[in-house]
Amino acid sequence: MTTHRIAVIPGDGIGKEVVPAGIEALEATAGRFGLRLEFTDFGFASADYWQRHGTMLPADWEATLRGFDAIFFGAVGWPEVVPDHISLWGSLLQFRRTFDQYVNLRPCRLMPGVRSPLAGREPGDIDFLVVRENTEGEYSSVGGRIFEGTERETVLQETVMTRIGVDRVLRYAFEQAERRPRKHLTSATKSNGISISMPYWDERVAAMGERFPDVRVDRFHIDALAALFVLHPGRFDVVVASNLFGDILSDLGPACTGTLGIAPSANINPDGLHPSLFEPVHGSAPDIAGQGIANPVGQIWCGSMMLDHLGHPEAAAHLLGAIEDVLAHGPGGAPLTPDLHGKGTTAELGRAIAERVRER
Ligand code: NAD
Ligand code: IPM
Ligand code: MN
Repeated sequence: MTTHRIAVIPGDGIGKEVVPAGIEALEATAGRFGLRLEFTDFGFASADYWQRHGTMLPADWEATLRGFDAIFFGAVGWPEVVPDHISLWGSLLQFRRTFDQYVNLRPCRLMPGVRSPLAGREPGDIDFLVVRENTEGEYSSVGGRIFEGTERETVLQETVMTRIGVDRVLRYAFEQAERRPRKHLTSATKSNGISISMPYWDERVAAMGERFPDVRVDRFHIDALAALFVLHPGRFDVVVASNLFGDILSDLGPACTGTLGIAPSANINPDGLHPSLFEPVHGSAPDIAGQGIANPVGQIWCGSMMLDHLGHPEAAAHLLGAIEDVLAHGPGGAPLTPDLHGKGTTAELGRAIAERVRER
């Protein structure tokens, strides 16, 4: 029997509510496909851990997590207790960098049974993949404050783009586009205003495109692209973007497909040298935490992406199919959560999906 060791980090807020639903669905899937998933739960990377230790992570976190095949992650952030930039740079952003998870894959699909806030969109009309650069770009720690407290107070934060860093995520995005039927890649840019880094990004897109003659490439400035996501979401296939642009587009996309609550993400180290990390796109949602009504679908879909990454595409497809089957029954026939216009709870929707995994 194939065994995989999975590190589980629920984090804060609804992370702690949706992760158990994710594990339940993964266990059901593993049972169907003769896989063994060994889950080990960690309480670090949370506000609770911060309150007890004054840090987000133990000193040996890297060695600890390196021993796992993958990391199944909820969400971090509880600004009442620890400022977000400290909790996130002290955990999730450390993981992405230390484990060189340079691709962040964020699929966005209008699912059967889910209503888009955009008029006239049917399931199947929206189906694209955001490939977000995940280790450099606008998320850089290069910079600082000078002349603090004076009239000359100045704050700088540099964008860092390296040829290796840009090319490797672009190559990954082109390869994804090449494998999909539409073979279409859209690049997010802003080379009209951000006059040094973004023309460089465009240049590398054009250079990489020469190696993928079958892929049709276009590019839009991020402001126009945001508008197109709302007006014509169906025209997109693979969208590649820098770290910040990819972050913004990957909340906007799921909003167009009904709810942030169903959106998954995979922080991948494609070289296989480090563990990859699977987490929903959403955060800890303090506004609904503790009520048991968070949508667990994003977390469960992450489980499907994790199975695919671990070499089990059939199990991954089966789990995603179970999600689709349950959503397709709509708010009347399935215990959908309030963001999907239902009255179900996290646990009820999670259980319905796990049951569907066993039945189908
Ligand atoms: P958020 O994603 O937590 O919430 C945005 C809105 O979406 C809220 O109204 C929330 O209720 C709703 N929402 C999110 N997930 C949902 C779900 N599964 N079901 C139903 N509704 C859902 O974003 P935010 O409010 O900007 O951030 C809250 C905290 O989470 C902050 O501390 C932030 O830094 C952190 N955060 C962490 C991650 C992560 O760990 N990957 C990602 C984003 C934000
Ligand atoms: C995400 C989140 C993170 C990011 C935050 C919490 C640092 O928004 O995973 O999309 O910006 O990458
Ligand atoms: Mn985000």
